[in-house]
Amino acid sequence: MPLWTGRFKKQLDKQTNDFNASIGFDSRMAAQDIQGSVAHATMLGAQGIIDKGESDVIVRTLKDIAADLESGALEIDMNAEDIHTFVEGELTKRIGDSGKRLHTARSRNDQVALDLRLYLMAQADRLDASLVRFLRVIGEKAQATCDYVMPGYTHLQRAQPITFGHHLLAYAEMLRRDRDRLADCKKRMAVSPLGSGALAGTTYPLDRELVADLLGMHGVSGNSLDGVSDRDYVLELLSMLSILMVHLSRFAEEVILWCSWEFKFLELDDAFSTGSSIMPQKKNPDIAELVRGKAGRVFGDLMTLLTVMKGLPLAYNKDMQEDKEAVFDAVDTAVICLDTFAPMLETATVLRDNMRAAAAKGFINATDCADYLVGKGLPFRDAYKCVGQLVALCIDKGVTLETLELSAYRAECDLFDEDVYAMIDLDRCVEKRTVKGAPAPENVKAEAAALLASLEEA
Ligand code: ARG
Repeated sequence: MPLWTGRFKKQLDKQTNDFNASIGFDSRMAAQDIQGSVAHATMLGAQGIIDKGESDVIVRTLKDIAADLESGALEIDMNAEDIHTFVEGELTKRIGDSGKRLHTARSRNDQVALDLRLYLMAQADRLDASLVRFLRVIGEKAQATCDYVMPGYTHLQRAQPITFGHHLLAYAEMLRRDRDRLADCKKRMAVSPLGSGALAGTTYPLDRELVADLLGMHGVSGNSLDGVSDRDYVLELLSMLSILMVHLSRFAEEVILWCSWEFKFLELDDAFSTGSSIMPQKKNPDIAELVRGKAGRVFGDLMTLLTVMKGLPLAYNKDMQEDKEAVFDAVDTAVICLDTFAPMLETATVLRDNMRAAAAKGFINATDCADYLVGKGLPFRDAYKCVGQLVALCIDKGVTLETLELSAYRAECDLFDEDVYAMIDLDRCVEKRTVKGAPAPENVKAEAAALLASLEEA
């Protein structure tokens, strides 16, 4: 039976019933629905809006229902319209008329808004735990590879020498900002809309703050129309998740590149790669490709809810039931991506020699060579031009700056001396990059240690 009998002479058409129902997906919020109802019933009793004895029975029975759902003794009836209907129906089945008093001074509109907030607060914690696990893997890997010299790129062209640990820590920065965004949006989630009623508040003397307190929320919504129709907290979470997926997709793309024979900087563990049904030699980075692909799905979820909310008149509209599948999908997708990527990275072998060999080609020490001349007093612009000519000469001769003979250097500029070779040595080029945020091994070691220490508190 739906909750809204009385006015109706006919039962809902079967297909329409299925179309209207949300139990298929909102049953995930059972624990939060009960948690919200326990707080509501406690407050109704404390305020004398319902009898204190009845409120106690309601609370106790709701807790029994939660325990029975948890243990599997009670199964959710998938024929109920939604999770709110199911819980209230089960309560009334168990305690009769007292159960029917639970919904006093409440509407499913403020109830569902509360449930979704509570559910997403819990999901934010789950997501944060996955972010922390992933960051820990990055920190440990960065520590282990703090002195692995590799080419840094711009335009996907070899540019200047960096260390692999430094490259990894760039992703740590992104994920730390993702954690900040998550914590920030959780603050706005933790506000109770209960008491907004269907749209216009209620005439009962509610203690809204008590409900918020009981639920670990830090405040109550300020306007009843907004209380039931605000989904900003869902949009903020979806936005934050979309940005996170941008980061993961960039990282995934680099893993894919690094695993190619053209790069071969990384070898994935067999447990995290797949083969081909026809090509016996293939080892494919499917996991990284899937992460890259799933970013599209999360952006789609954000677009779904933005489009649902756009132009909706106040207050509650049934369109908003579409919020749940989108945000549930986005959270699940992001968590599984983080939880699969982390062990894939942890078990991957970093091919130090291949990186070093790639760094030795492509003239990535050309800037350092120009800086050598600057050190000898030449203006940077002139030094830049001179080294550009030397690079062209090397390309003609098929040599590198390290192997070009001193006489050729001197023919271009007589400021060059034997010490230029030490100056353009790749290890030294990297070691000298000690400015805050630069790739010197000692920097990377310290940054990785600081990252890992910061995660200890998490
Ligand atoms: N299943 C609904 C939702 O998710 C619950 C709120 C129903 N309210 C209503 N007035 N029909 O939005």
